[in-house]
Amino acid sequence: MTTASRTFPQNFLFGAATAAYQIEGAASEDGRTDSIWDAFARVPGAVINADNGDVACDHYHRYSADIALMKDLGLQTYRFSTSWSRVHPDGGQLNPAGVDFYKRLVDGLLEAGILPWLTLYHWDLPQALQEKGGWTNRDTADLFTEYALDMHDALGDRVNVWTTLNEPWCSSFLSYTAGIHAPGHYSALEGMLASHHLLLGHGQAVRELRARDSSLDLGITLNLTVADPADAESASDVDAARRIDGQFNRWFLDPVFRGAYPSDVLDDIRAVDAQAVAQFETAVQPGDLEVISTPIDALGVNYYHGELVGGTPATSPAISGDAPTDRVAHSPFPAADGIYWHDRQLPQTAMHWDVQPEGLTRLLRRVSAEYAAPASTTLYVTENGAAYDDVAVVEDGQVRVHDAERSVFVREHLGAILDAIETGVDIRGYFYWSLLDNFEWAWGYEKRFGIVHVDYLTQERSLKDSGLEYQRVIAERAL
Ligand code: NOJ
Repeated sequence: MTTASRTFPQNFLFGAATAAYQIEGAASEDGRTDSIWDAFARVPGAVINADNGDVACDHYHRYSADIALMKDLGLQTYRFSTSWSRVHPDGGQLNPAGVDFYKRLVDGLLEAGILPWLTLYHWDLPQALQEKGGWTNRDTADLFTEYALDMHDALGDRVNVWTTLNEPWCSSFLSYTAGIHAPGHYSALEGMLASHHLLLGHGQAVRELRARDSSLDLGITLNLTVADPADAESASDVDAARRIDGQFNRWFLDPVFRGAYPSDVLDDIRAVDAQAVAQFETAVQPGDLEVISTPIDALGVNYYHGELVGGTPATSPAISGDAPTDRVAHSPFPAADGIYWHDRQLPQTAMHWDVQPEGLTRLLRRVSAEYAAPASTTLYVTENGAAYDDVAVVEDGQVRVHDAERSVFVREHLGAILDAIETGVDIRGYFYWSLLDNFEWAWGYEKRFGIVHVDYLTQERSLKDSGLEYQRVIAERAL
């Protein structure tokens, strides 16, 4: 029996994503100074095996070969981030040598016919700025805007797509509240302040970049989830799902699209920490929310899995945010008391994350209907992918990884996107996370997300079976 193949619309872009600290290495070359991740990786117990990004995938020296790989895969676009510490060492003056690397990278991409998709901030704040409070300090938003404009001065003639922030939930609450990402703090207030100043930096950068060039494609990437109640008939379960949706999704979507923080979330946090909310509200200055809600062209959705939550105890499996080492992790949610995670009994990846493709369909439909479509903002899936315990074998002298589970994962999630498209949702692209195995933050090199295997001893790259599968899908533009 043959089944009809499902094709992707003509305007749909296939891509893959990476981030500077996770792949570049060359941590102190050509004037680069420490970011908060260089410093955090030195804290005993912060990263599994005390791994760090000093060398990573050595992409800084191997970018040409990596572009050749992208071309071979048939990627139409490549999402990467630039390192603030390379471009403005210590958060200070422009470093031309640092910018030059990105000029070479972008020129190489353009030559290969690959659309460069540039993200300005993927979590690697210059450490010197952290010493002045990092994202809890409002000045950081202004410095971020200056960095964005310097990048535009250097690359505006060849890069059209600009994403301000990647996953600000992680760079605020996972970093300043849960303590498991750099800088590793444990404060609800700091998480809230960081989120506000990140969003302020986003809005300011969008305004300034737009003023420079109205033809730029400007956006933000958010990590979003679908929060479901364990029992839809239980009021406390439904309320737990509302609270997770509020603290994870709406805390970012509402200010960006509606110019307001969600009042129910503020009430929830006020009930446990009235002082933090009062201080947060003082930090939100008149006019900030207008800046934050400056219209954007593109919303990037990063989706990995949903959450099944309730108001009564359940066996509580690992959720994104658990610390991999014995470092203490706090909840990233300021108002998480009485919320319990339930097990959906789904297959899981090596991160112990559920494989839940249907959640992506629901998420895209909801985000489109409630936020993106009314604002004429285009939706993209800027990240989706899976870590598995890959085994590299040598066959006929070639390194092979038979990662059938990852191929299925990619196909199922692309299918979920087509399901959304078929119900009328306009989605213009998919970026697999990640092009390469790389430094998976607190998990170090232990978790491999790539469709390209990296041997960290030799830096040899080998296309996994999932890479070959993705290559086929891209060539046929069909599942
Ligand atoms: C989200 C982040 O943007 C990326 O840096 C990370 O490696 C992946 N998710 C997988 O956890």
